Amino acid sequence: MHVVAVFGSAHKGNSETLAEWCLEHLEEHGARVSRYPLRAMHYKGCILCNGCKTGSESCVLRDDLTPALEAVPGADVVLVSAPVWFLDVPSQLKAFFDRWYAFFQPKFWKNNYAARLPKGKQVVMALSQGQPEGFEDLLVRYNAVFTVMGFMPMHVIRGYGLRGPGEAARRDDLKAQARAVAARILNGQPPEHILPAYR
Ligand SMILES: Cc1cc2nc3c(=O)[nH]c(=O)nc-3n(C[C@H](O)[C@H](O)[C@H](O)COP(=O)(O)O)c2cc1C
Repeated sequence: MHVVAVFGSAHKGNSETLAEWCLEHLEEHGARVSRYPLRAMHYKGCILCNGCKTGSESCVLRDDLTPALEAVPGADVVLVSAPVWFLDVPSQLKAFFDRWYAFFQPKFWKNNYAARLPKGKQVVMALSQGQPEGFEDLLVRYNAVFTVMGFMPMHVIRGYGLRGPGEAARRDDLKAQARAVAARILNGQPPEHILPAYR
């Protein structure tokens, strides 16, 4: 099992702790993990050059994001981690997702299946936030993006009430949650909670 892990926080913080607990469990059971911390990278979002629709099957921009993007088609599992920033993911991670435009076929709006990616990959989103609740809409929206790209329903690891750096590391309940998600992935089980469809 090859896992592509993309860390979307500006630092090695709470969301990455959640992600690493899940990855650790997967690695203990034989998974190979490729890690891509966006905080260390310099890159652009999609510039709509349409190079990926007119001659190239992948994104023609070459920058620090290229290896992460190139790893996605061959991955069995994609894990993304992020804090909530102003009700959404940080722009660093949004720019990564915008580059997924290259994973759409040319004239994708005419096809029943729009993506170039093979169907059936698993996906996990590890999300940390300061507030004690809320932001399910964020998960519903990104799950919709993954669904159109052919992924199975999204697994979620959620850390609430995490205001200071390093707070997640002291939370055994979150560690248990992250490892339980890893176990479901290893067993090919669907998420415990299926997110509603985006409307
Ligand atoms: C710019 C910024 C915006 C934030 N916006 C929100 C928000 O809208 N809702 C929330 O619950 N927490 C918000 N937070 C708090 C972070 O989501 C929280 O501290 C999180 O645990 C940080 O995760 P990290 O250590 O992985 O970066 C914000 C933090 C920053 C720095």
